[in-house]
This record gives sequence, structure tokens and C-alpha cells, in this order.
Amino acid sequence: MSYQIAIDGPAGAGKSTIAKLVAKELNFVYVDTGAMYRAMALYCVKEGVSKDDEKAVVDLCRTADVSIRYIDGEQAVFLNGENVNGLIRTPAVSDAASMVSTYKEVREKLVELQRSLTDTENVVMDGRDIASVVLPNADLKIYLDADVEVRAKRRYDELVAKGEDPDYDEILSGVRERDYRDMHRDNSPLTRVPEAVYVDSSYMSIEEVKNTIIDEFKKVS
Ligand code: DC
Repeated sequence: MSYQIAIDGPAGAGKSTIAKLVAKELNFVYVDTGAMYRAMALYCVKEGVSKDDEKAVVDLCRTADVSIRYIDGEQAVFLNGENVNGLIRTPAVSDAASMVSTYKEVREKLVELQRSLTDTENVVMDGRDIASVVLPNADLKIYLDADVEVRAKRRYDELVAKGEDPDYDEILSGVRERDYRDMHRDNSPLTRVPEAVYVDSSYMSIEEVKNTIIDEFKKVS
């Protein structure tokens, strides 16, 4: 029997950082579902398909081969045989991913891939619809949240650390826009299922958030 931990929440709440640490501590496989939507979005950007043209996006995605491999324990996402991990974190791809992930057929294809990864492995999977759609029977469901200003500041600090000169207000309005789209789309919007444990990471350290989740898992395992 394998265990499933689902972590959902808005962009910038720290899901991937935390999910990776929890997976490492429990020796589970970490599945980053956002990377799959990002790979689809990258394909659209590369092929010059407008993210707003649902039919064109869906047609293109039908031809896409997205797969996951683990290289030295890290998830790598492959698009048509190419490792695209290094190409999917740009603002253009983030923006396109938030749009292409609203399309039903794109979601159906990726949900199938996500479920197939849980057949034999214990997983920590993060995304927006993991508890509600992808793994409705997960052993533990976490909704990881943080204030929008805190999430925007984290993103701002990340960019400053990379030597960039970002505009905080622009980042804040971008985060708000993505939140709105992720929460209000028709297909599998980000929701907090009633059985999920709510964790507000705004004023918690990474270690505290990780330990909270490990403690919750101990209660159910
Ligand atoms: O978690 P992330 O920022 O890498 O996700 C990129 C986009 O993909 C984000 O706008 C929401 C979408 N997404 C989704 O709709 N469902 C998921 N399970 C994961 C991500």
C-alpha cells in the first residue's frame, strides 16, 4: 500500500519548498504538478500559439509528450524528449501556465499523468487541485496559504537575490491576478477542501511548516 500526501495552495505559499523537504524526510517521491502545466505553456510559447486561443492550445497539447523522470532524486520534466526544467520558470511561462491550465482537455491529460505516478510510489504531490480532483483519497491533505503581500515579498526577495531590480507593486498585482485566475476558473479551481489541514505559512519558518506537516502525517499513518 502506498501513501499519498496532497499539498494545495496559491502561488508563492512555499508549496514546492515544503513538499520537497517533507518528501525527503519521509523518503517519498515529490511530484511537482505545476511543472507539467509549465511544460505545456512552454510548448505554446515556443510554437507561437497564443495562450488565449483555447482550440489552438488544446490541439497543440494533444501532440505534446510530457513525462517525468527523476535525476539524482530531483524531478525533471521532459517535453517531447527534452529536459525543460531550466526553461519553465520565466515570467512569460508562469503567465501562460496560469492560462493554459484553465483548459479542461489540458487538465485531463496532465491529471492522468499525475495519477499514474502514484501507482507504486509513496508521494508528496503539490498543486491546486490535488486534494479535490487528482488524489481525492489522499491520506493527508494540506492547504498551504500565506498572505498575498507576504507571497509577493518572497518573490521580490528572490528576484533581488538573483541580481534583478524588480518592482514590488507590479509583482503584487501579478500575484493577485494569478490567484484570481487559479481560484475562479471553471475547471478544477484552487479550493480548500473541508478535510484539508489549513497551514498559514506567513509568519512561520520553513522548518516549522515542514514539522507541522510531518506531525500531521504521523497522526494518519
Ligand atoms: O505551482 P506553479 O506556480 O508552478 O503552477 C503553475 C500554474 O499551473 C499555476 O498558474 C496554476 C497551474 N496549476 C494548476 O492549475 N493545477 C495544478 N495542479 C498545478 C498548477
